Amino acid sequence: MRLDKYLADGGAGSRSQVKEYIKKGKVSVNGIIVKNADASVGDDDVVECMGKRYSAGKFRYYMLNKPVDVVSATTDNRDRTVIDILKECDVNVKDLFPVGRLDKDTEGLLLITDDGQLSHELLSPKKHVDKTYEVGLRDLFTTEMERKLTEGVDIGEKRPTMPAKVQIINDKKILLTIREGKFHQVKRMLMAVGNEVIYLKRLKMGPLSLDDSLGQGEFRELSDCEINALKTIHEGK
Ligand code: URA
Repeated sequence: MRLDKYLADGGAGSRSQVKEYIKKGKVSVNGIIVKNADASVGDDDVVECMGKRYSAGKFRYYMLNKPVDVVSATTDNRDRTVIDILKECDVNVKDLFPVGRLDKDTEGLLLITDDGQLSHELLSPKKHVDKTYEVGLRDLFTTEMERKLTEGVDIGEKRPTMPAKVQIINDKKILLTIREGKFHQVKRMLMAVGNEVIYLKRLKMGPLSLDDSLGQGEFRELSDCEINALKTIHEGK
């Protein structure tokens, strides 16, 4: 694809704006300034305009370790958003959005992409994508609570929750795997069994695991292997 089209499609500006950027030496391909708008670029090239990386015709996928106090939205009048985190690191955030939501006080794995179809599939109730959370509890976790969670509990919806998987870490900490994604679901499930969530972190979503080298607020692009794993859900496998 021509360089100017590649950049315009990728959101760097209009075709005439990007031609100007190219002429002024603001565009590099694989680290080398290129001043020809008709230079040919492809999927494997790293194209940057004024320090930001662009990619045309290819979806982008980022894994964020969401910190607390940041909201899972694209824009917000009051709070910093997960998209602001990427923008502050000079990522071109055009069309990016978080796949589903984590509460403001929840941390951990959040997928950010511009692939609407994949997002739809991951969030679809029909696909039953497992989500695993590390859950810190106010009170001791009992075998009775475990039994109820694994059978399904009434959180005030039409039906009880689907059976969850529970792994006990200690008296006040569990790993909980659920298949639905109702509003405040984990907090409501623990409330329904007489306990209370005081700490919540998502560790897994389908085949994707939070990279434990990512500190709070850090992100990275997904590997090809991770993207392919997500696409197996997408294809209904
Ligand atoms: N369940 C919750 O209660 N909150 C979250 O952020 C995610 C799952």
